Amino acid sequence: MIYTLTATCHFGTEAVLKREILDLGLEIKSVTDGHIEFYGTSADIFRANLWLRTAERVHINLLEFNAYTFDELYENVFSLDWADILPEDANFVINGRSYESKLFSISDCQRITERAIIDKLNLTYNKDYYEKTGKKFNFEISINRDHAILYLDSSGAGLHKRGYRKMQGAAPIKETLAAAMINLSVWNKDRPLYDPFCGSGTIPIEAAMIARNIAPGILRRFSCEHFEFLDLSEFRTIRKDAKAAINKDMALNITGSDYDRNMIMIARDNTQNIGVEDIFLFTKEVRKVEIEDEYGVIITNPPYGIRLDDELLDRTYGNFKTLIDKLPTWSTYIITDYEKLETVLDRKADKNRKLYNGKIKTYYYTFLGPRPPKEYYEKL
Ligand SMILES: C[S@@+](CC[C@H](N)C(=O)[O-])C[C@H]1O[C@@H](n2cnc3c(N)ncnc32)[C@H](O)[C@@H]1O
Repeated sequence: MIYTLTATCHFGTEAVLKREILDLGLEIKSVTDGHIEFYGTSADIFRANLWLRTAERVHINLLEFNAYTFDELYENVFSLDWADILPEDANFVINGRSYESKLFSISDCQRITERAIIDKLNLTYNKDYYEKTGKKFNFEISINRDHAILYLDSSGAGLHKRGYRKMQGAAPIKETLAAAMINLSVWNKDRPLYDPFCGSGTIPIEAAMIARNIAPGILRRFSCEHFEFLDLSEFRTIRKDAKAAINKDMALNITGSDYDRNMIMIARDNTQNIGVEDIFLFTKEVRKVEIEDEYGVIITNPPYGIRLDDELLDRTYGNFKTLIDKLPTWSTYIITDYEKLETVLDRKADKNRKLYNGKIKTYYYTFLGPRPPKEYYEKL
């Protein structure tokens, strides 16, 4: 059976996620802001959850229809064989959203969707009350300009929750966004990568996972693993294959530093949790850092304007300039909401992409260095 699936992502990272889905060998149906629809089997649902580095969630599109009235909503939801999907004790929850639609009351849409599901379930289970003590099923009834899609979330916790970041600082970047930043850069596993504001280590760890081919979801479970209506037979093999595909021998040239010693200790723990403890981590104020490698790539998430006062912010970015001035062969990628970045760094970005870090509108600046000469790769 082929399902229509929807992977969600940070606004601005759709192209990266689309590439990842195509790399899994899957066919794309559509790309819109923060949403990519694609087709896949039961096994593909599990593979997508396990392997997509930049997807926030993977949903199964259970139903799609036009809904101008509550009757249409009810009838369409009722039409599914719900007892095939939900066990008697299923702990199911209906979330909702509506945009420019006749059915604009989200709470009514949720209530009617739930009513239709329960009425249909009653034809099989015949109960007055569903205790919902069993496994979790999260649905979303989403109505966009009178077009309804009923989604079932196959991920569970958001896919940024890889499971390696047990502790973090005040402003960690989401793992999915860090992976997108790396994928949008010129970095490849043969070049050095450095994050001078590494905090809990997210960017270096995501890069190391890419270099070693560690599946982003390898430490965790997904909701789809308890969906009995799917063909679960291949899930175990897919996980086993992912473990076998890890390239443990891949040498890393990945470094992170931060002026906060506690953050470096947290980052060290996090690297151990996912088996990339050979990332080089050290404590240092950015201005004082000395790096010997050439043709590396800085990918970083310095402090944001909303968190620091202007004077401290100017000083921090000024100190960062001191570092990158010492690294003329490096390329630099920075995600920030700091508006004076190009002025303070005294250079014009080669590219400037709008990315949303949660609700904060940020820009992802690219400052390209020279390409490594051929001899650079020959020496490796
Ligand atoms: C936005 S956080 C980075 C979060 C990180 N990407 C993560 O996922 O945890 C910025 C980090 O910059 C560090 N920092 C701030 N000013 C610094 C400076 N002048 N030199 C080095 N590190 C600094 C802070 O300690 C903080 O951990």
